[in-house]
Amino acid sequence: MSRPQDEMAEEGEEVFRNLTEVKKSQIVMPCHANHRQELSVGQLLKWMDSTACLSAERHAGCPCVTASVDDIHFEHTIGVGQVVNIKAKVNRAFNTSMEVGIVVNCEDLFSDSHWRVCQAFATFVTQRTTGGKVQLRPLVPRTQEEQVEHSLAAERRRMRLVHADIMKDLLTNRAFQQVEVQEAEKAVPAERTQVESVELVLPPHANHQVNTFGGQIMAWMENVATIAASRLCNAHPTLRSIDMFHFRGPSQVGDRLVLKAIVNNAFKNSMEVGVCAEAYQGEEPLRHINSAFMIFEVCDRDGKPCTLPKIQPEPLEGRRRYQEAIARKKIRLDRKYIISCKQTEVPLSVPWDLSNQVYLSYNNVSALKMLAARNNWVLNSEKNKVSLYTLEQKQVLSFKIEFEADVPAERAFMVLSDLSKRVEWDPNYERCELIHRVDDDDFLYRVVTPSICQGGVSSSPSVNQGGMVQDFILLASRRPPCDSGDPYVIALRSVTLPTHPPTEGYNRGEVLCAGFSIMEVSNTVSKISYFNQASPEVLPYISTDIAGLSSSFYGTFCTCSTFLQDNRDNPTPKDQPPSSTLNSTLL
Ligand code: COA
Ligand code: ADP
Repeated sequence: MSRPQDEMAEEGEEVFRNLTEVKKSQIVMPCHANHRQELSVGQLLKWMDSTACLSAERHAGCPCVTASVDDIHFEHTIGVGQVVNIKAKVNRAFNTSMEVGIVVNCEDLFSDSHWRVCQAFATFVTQRTTGGKVQLRPLVPRTQEEQVEHSLAAERRRMRLVHADIMKDLLTNRAFQQVEVQEAEKAVPAERTQVESVELVLPPHANHQVNTFGGQIMAWMENVATIAASRLCNAHPTLRSIDMFHFRGPSQVGDRLVLKAIVNNAFKNSMEVGVCAEAYQGEEPLRHINSAFMIFEVCDRDGKPCTLPKIQPEPLEGRRRYQEAIARKKIRLDRKYIISCKQTEVPLSVPWDLSNQVYLSYNNVSALKMLAARNNWVLNSEKNKVSLYTLEQKQVLSFKIEFEADVPAERAFMVLSDLSKRVEWDPNYERCELIHRVDDDDFLYRVVTPSICQGGVSSSPSVNQGGMVQDFILLASRRPPCDSGDPYVIALRSVTLPTHPPTEGYNRGEVLCAGFSIMEVSNTVSKISYFNQASPEVLPYISTDIAGLSSSFYGTFCTCSTFLQDNRDNPTPKDQPPSSTLNSTLL
């Protein structure tokens, strides 16, 4: 187990320090622990929130409050006597909000080992003043790692802001509403797990502006959720994950917080506990502060998950929550599977559906941004101002083609993001049909490559094998820059669609990660980079260009450059792909 990098620096060596970075180290004492002598997650959430808040305030220079926290998965528990090291830094500032990245590591003082406990992304918002909202100054990333996080933060924000709508859409899906409650002989009535508890918000629970700390509220919520979970299993459960949540409104010193929890559903080895936090003062009506959904497991002495009893939900509301917990489980799995996996662990073609669209888009765009940000690209060759770079990573060889075009960046973006136009400049695109326009920025295409590989090498996402025509189902996600300095991005990856299974006569090809990054060089010139993370079967074809035996890439991208110039003053109707005729079959 390694020590954090900045702690390993040699004496006298200058270490880059992000000005918003805040560190907190705490030794876990018995008063922080539960009955298993493990750090309670509520206490950890308080430490994480206060560290992140200090980081946010360092950038903002004014008081900030927690707006939301993305999904958190706890990979390990932390024992009494071990040290918790928390590091928080601002990844990006938007208008009044900023994303703070939080990393929690555990340190065993006796064995000098360190390991990751969890990572989280919280959004903090500047507190409104009498003068209105406080606008944040932009945060300028200074290292390559910061640039990647800065860029991905914009994509994560996009995902978080549509989270509530995704949940609403999914919960109204009839398939989930028709789920029958599984009758079981020894099912535990859900009301047996119900908890209600009140807390008075005192000054130690609040910041200097008398606003209740988000972390304190999360800790109280975790407390009631743990009681509900323990009542189902009559054992000490372990909190494994918390779904993304949003603080809907503020709370202050003097508030009474009412916390309610119940087990919504029990699966084989895990259960979902829902918690609701509401606040009131005096005779005022209750204000909804937060609702969270937490996943617990029960482990045996060897740490293996135990089988849980079934739950018998209450009628009406309980039944609805039971069904909704199943829907949330799907989202949770999608998010964990598609987002949290390392790029190389994500299977090539993930089934696309409306409920996982936003995660697949995130995966698509973030994979391309991370590939583009690698600093070990090697210039392989250059011809007619078109450069070919390669990047070797374990099993995968990636390549990048770069050239400048006399076209404004935005125009190049509009032209290249309509994939159906690629047939006009890329001989490896024989046909390209728009299957479905998901929204203004995401499209599903079917691409067919010709049966004879022209020039011997394909610059398209794949090449033909054994003379068989190949087709691809691609998700194309396009993103204009969030602010100056960001590139325009068009990301491509394979997905599977039940409406478009592989058909006879076509070899279904797969694209792991490909696409364009377009930077503005001047008002009239843009730098275009095309990336392709080649799967092993594509390697022999690309290697002919890399070895200098072929120059089909150069030809293709020279044609692309000419095509862009020909289209620089020629806007197509509305500059967007036509709407699909097949929408209804997908929705
Ligand atoms: N996740 C992340 N950011 C969110 C968000 C969410 N679910 N909902 C809104 N925001 C961001 C917006 O993107 C916006 O950011 P920007 O200015 O950088 O573009 C910012 O919050 C303000 O959005 P706005 O639409 O003006 O405000 P709102 O009416 O939606 O209120 C909060 C958002 C967070 C300010 C409001 O819900 C609030 O006060 N919550 C309580 C916060 C608090 O007190 N927390 C401590 C514990 S109680
Ligand atoms: P929803 O009921 O749609 O899930 P809420 O925000 O009302 O959303 O509640 C969030 C969760 O809090 C619920 O799923 C449930 O698990 C828990 N909860 C809500 N009300 C109660 C209550 N009266 N008693 C116990 N738990 C509750």
